[in-house]
Amino acid sequence: MPDLVRIRHSTVPAPLRLALHLFDLAAYEVLYRFSPVSRKMFFNGGYLPLAPDMQQLPALKGEEASAMMYHLLLRGMVADLAPNPQVILDVGCGQGGGLLYAHAIHPGVRLYGTDRNGTATRKAARAVAHIPGSRLVKGSDDDIRFEAACADFVISVGAPTYFGLTRFVGEAARVCRPGGIIAFSGGYRQGDHAVIEAELRDAASGSGLVFHRYRDITPHTFAALRADIPRREAELARVPWPFRLYGRKWADMPGSAEYDEYATGRRADFACVLRKP
Ligand SMILES: C[S@@+](CC[C@H](N)C(=O)[O-])C[C@H]1O[C@@H](n2cnc3c(N)ncnc32)[C@H](O)[C@@H]1O
Repeated sequence: MPDLVRIRHSTVPAPLRLALHLFDLAAYEVLYRFSPVSRKMFFNGGYLPLAPDMQQLPALKGEEASAMMYHLLLRGMVADLAPNPQVILDVGCGQGGGLLYAHAIHPGVRLYGTDRNGTATRKAARAVAHIPGSRLVKGSDDDIRFEAACADFVISVGAPTYFGLTRFVGEAARVCRPGGIIAFSGGYRQGDHAVIEAELRDAASGSGLVFHRYRDITPHTFAALRADIPRREAELARVPWPFRLYGRKWADMPGSAEYDEYATGRRADFACVLRKP
């Protein structure tokens, strides 16, 4: 998707930064309300190959690669920590697919979720309404709208880069209980894993967290993107012309600078696990 994420934390003049930020919020609103995304449970590019121990949920059928991104955080990246959480908090939960998947992996768990987009938050709340103790809260740009030490497993797919990594880690440390786990993923265009990992290590130590694991997952996200191109082409063909061009960038389609960065190794997608002692 276009790199509005980085502009928000850059040195471009404040009015331009604000304008681009408002555009970003509006774009998400349009996508969650009117685009094909509104018919789905996830809004992440996915991870392939699928793990053999993935749970298959009828509600998430057809979105297995996106569910796999959550499986990675809930199982693959943390297997050695053997998590047995009571409360899972998904930051930037989107439309709730990740919360449903988290419940399938940890059936007794209470689900907390937050997203700065109200349309997505309401849909997520409906998706998990049948699960006792679920709490969905519309988020804000800069903080996690939950009380301190409320969850023992904090997860996030795609949202940490919007917060800024250091701010995300500080906020995740606040809402995580002692002994808890924080597992998240994200990506940067023209990214550098050495720089990303260094920031995360600094942020973890500054917030009293233990840096547990970092992984370059770009080959897996690029595999998911390539596998999904025919479906994306078909959906973009139905989008009206002026929006279609922008849609191709959002969808990282061949011919876009975004796709080119995947193909030439200038994209950096990562997954990271931190622990709160
Ligand atoms: C790429 S989408 C991923 C959604 C969901 N995690 C998924 O995988 O389907 C990123 C999400 O982060 C949300 N987001 C961005 N900044 C946020 C913030 N500060 N607080 C809460 N949510 C945020 C966006 O509204 C969006 O729903």
